Parts: sequence; structure tokens; C-alpha cells
Amino acid sequence: MRALLAFALIASAQAGDVARGRALVADRTQSLCLLCHSLTAAGDPNQGNLAPPLQSAARLAPQDLRERIADMRRFNAATVMPPFRSTDGLRDVAPAWQGRAALTEQQLDDIVAYLRSLDSR
Ligand code: HEC
Repeated sequence: MRALLAFALIASAQAGDVARGRALVADRTQSLCLLCHSLTAAGDPNQGNLAPPLQSAARLAPQDLRERIADMRRFNAATVMPPFRSTDGLRDVAPAWQGRAALTEQQLDDIVAYLRSLDSR
């Protein structure tokens, strides 16, 4: 029973929240996703065209999305995409952000849940 409860707690802590993820992707003060990516579903008229549309990323498996958002440098050493779950190798970090990743694990889960919810296949 205790093991079952522990499992339920872990599962709920990792489950992403689609609504929170949607708000985070649209948030220009924290995620900045739409600075570089477009996403029609976000309904924002000012979207980036530097990076592939996020709608097409929705097809990726949750783990693949997580790894890319956490640290795109693993897949492209020269990427311009910020590493949202790593502080390795960063320079000129503002004092308030020293030693802190840009997103928490929960926020990453929320964004992954939102992007997966856009998969229209
Ligand atoms: C400064 C620009 C920039 C920002 C901000 C940015 N990205 Fe990216 N992202 C890119 C680029 C460019 C690529 C294409 C791969 C590469 O060049 O490394 C990419 C690739 C990706 C991919 C992989 C796409 C694929 O089809 O393989 C995902 C998923 C992704 N970004 C999600 C996000 C999310 C979610 C956010 C916000 C939390 C975000 N990105 C913020 C520039 C950015």
C-alpha cells in the first residue's frame, strides 16, 4: 500500500499540466519559445521564424521533447536555443539566475504535455 502511494505521488509530480504549459510557451518573460518558434495554436501575432514551427515538434515522443527543450546542445552543439534545464557553460548570467535553470522539472513537464496535446496525427 505504501509503495502504491509512493508511486502515485511520483506519477502525479511528473504529470504535466496542459493549461500551465500553454501559458508558459506564450510567456515572453520566461520561456521565450515564440521569440524563435511559431505556433499557430498560441494565437500570438508576433511569432518567430528562426526555428522550426513548434506544431511540427508535437509529433515527437515526450522523452524526445524533454531532452531537446532541456538542452538542445546535445543534438546540435552550435544551437542558438537556450538550454532550459542546464546551467553548464553559460556566461554573463544575471545574478538572480546564477546556478538556476530557466525552467523547473515541473514546468518542463507542463510544456511537454501542452506540445503533445497539439499532435494532430
Ligand atoms: C533563441 C531561439 C530559441 C528559443 C528561445 C527556443 N528555441 Fe527551440 N529551437 C531553436 C532552433 C534554432 C531549433 C532548431 C534546432 C537547432 O538549430 O538547434 C530549435 C529546436 C527545438 C525543438 C526540436 C524540434 C525538432 O523538430 O526536432 C523543440 C522541441 C524546441 N525547439 C522547443 C522549444 C521550446 C518549447 C522553447 C521554449 C521553452 C524553445 N524551443 C525556445 C531555437 C529556439
